[in-house]
Amino acid sequence: MKNYRKQVFAALLAGILAFGVIGCAGPAAKLEKNNVAAQETMQPTEVPQAEAPKAEMPDEPNAQVADAPKADASEPYSDILLVFFSRTGEQYQVGVIEKGNTAIVAEMIADQVGADLFEILPVDDHYPMTYSELTDVAKREQKENARPAYAGEVPDLSQYSTIFIGAPVWWGDWPMICYTFFETNAEALSGKTLIPFSTHAGSGLSGFDRKLSNALPNSTVQKGLAVAGTDCQNSPERVKKTVSDWLNGLGF
Ligand SMILES: Cc1cc2nc3c(=O)[nH]c(=O)nc-3n(C[C@H](O)[C@H](O)[C@H](O)COP(=O)(O)O)c2cc1C
Repeated sequence: MKNYRKQVFAALLAGILAFGVIGCAGPAAKLEKNNVAAQETMQPTEVPQAEAPKAEMPDEPNAQVADAPKADASEPYSDILLVFFSRTGEQYQVGVIEKGNTAIVAEMIADQVGADLFEILPVDDHYPMTYSELTDVAKREQKENARPAYAGEVPDLSQYSTIFIGAPVWWGDWPMICYTFFETNAEALSGKTLIPFSTHAGSGLSGFDRKLSNALPNSTVQKGLAVAGTDCQNSPERVKKTVSDWLNGLGF
């Protein structure tokens, strides 16, 4: 009987020990497996987030952006800037447009070369939204050799080596507000490579490159591109191909 009790006791003890070991090992093993799985699924998404282009960061409306390491924040996303002027509203042969012809080309270029964008916007938007009134205002500005002020702060130009500059042809020339930009930033633009482009209704580049070179003689001006404004609205895929071929030709 004594032996029988001993055997029962020993069996119970063995059971308790075995349960304890399994009970401890089970969740631990499971946790380890989950961690591996978590690492496997998190790694690919975390790496691109850490390397997310700076240009996209202002779109993220949370405090984490402000907490980003200073080294990243001070590094430019690109050494290419694209500056453009463009109008919405009623435009020649395309009716009322929501995105300007030049803006469309600007975005295509920026997408392909990875450029930062700066839009020249008039400080007081005095440009009418109807085509004929706009042509009158533009004509007057040209006659008076006006320098309409633009809004916003130009990014630190010292971080860019190449700057694309685009605008619609207005009365056979750059809109006067573009000259405001050229002259205000002449010193910072000296030594840079400038690449002009235009959209137009038949006048082509209208000497944009030569005129840019005259305004900024200390910059290097490359061959420009002229795109018909109507094509921007009606045949964007064709324009994209034209833009892409031109950029490839320039070595981008
Ligand atoms: C004030 C004004 C003057 C223009 N002058 C010319 C011109 O001299 N030659 C030309 O081909 N197109 C001219 N256009 C047509 C624009 O260059 C063309 O519609 C351009 O694609 C508009 O671009 P945006 O939508 O980016 O402003 C003129 C348009 C405006 C509003």
